[in-house]
Amino acid sequence: MFVHVVDEELALKLVELSDAERIFELTDRSRLALREWLPWLDHTKTVQDTKDFIQSGAESFALGNSLNCAIVYRGEIAGIAGFNEIDEAKKTAYIGYWLDTEYQGNGIMTRVAAALTDYALTERGLNKVEIRAAAGNHKSRNIPVRLGFTEEGIIRHGEWLYDHFVDSVVYGMLKSEWLSEKAK
Ligand SMILES: CC(C)(COP(=O)(O)OP(=O)(O)OC[C@H]1O[C@@H](n2cnc3c(N)ncnc32)[C@H](O)[C@@H]1OP(=O)(O)O)[C@@H](O)C(=O)NCCC(=O)NCCS
Repeated sequence: MFVHVVDEELALKLVELSDAERIFELTDRSRLALREWLPWLDHTKTVQDTKDFIQSGAESFALGNSLNCAIVYRGEIAGIAGFNEIDEAKKTAYIGYWLDTEYQGNGIMTRVAAALTDYALTERGLNKVEIRAAAGNHKSRNIPVRLGFTEEGIIRHGEWLYDHFVDSVVYGMLKSEWLSEKAK
């Protein structure tokens, strides 16, 4: 079982089927806000849909292709973060995340993204971490910026959100950069 302590009030743990009710509750009550930037809300209408997401995540985790974690904040699940994809050939992990609206604005995701980046680059043996965010999603873009990621470019119409395309901004952190920043 993957459990990673971030700090005294935050931990990441592999999502399990027994978390489905809570994760669906957060999804449902934050639906409108999450739907602005995430493409899967209209496919997540019941607890069973969340169970299916957890099940396919577990299969992908077993193959080493992804890592979906529940964010545990002060003992309660507050959202999801992890690696949507781990590309062993390129030694690159792609971070994705969302938080229930009630928990936003406490610096939670910055700490979580730092912990995931550190895990990928110092424990998991990867060389690069990428975060992609829609150009207009400033709350999300602030996270890699705050952590010292480099803005690498824009993928035009990088994502389809229900009825329109958005451009995606790519941020990257190399292992060498992360280690030299940590050594300061
Ligand atoms: C993007 C998202 C994950 C940000 O979560 P978050 O935990 O609020 O983000 P941060 O860690 O950057 O926190 C920053 C906020 O906490 C505040 N804060 C409080 N204490 C803080 C601390 N110790 N350190 C940093 N920020 C702190 C900041 O002032 C800032 O507030 P603001 O957003 O009102 O300006 C969240 O808004 C979300 O889930 N959005 C919808 C889904 C989404 O867009 N996902 C990403 C798709 S690419």
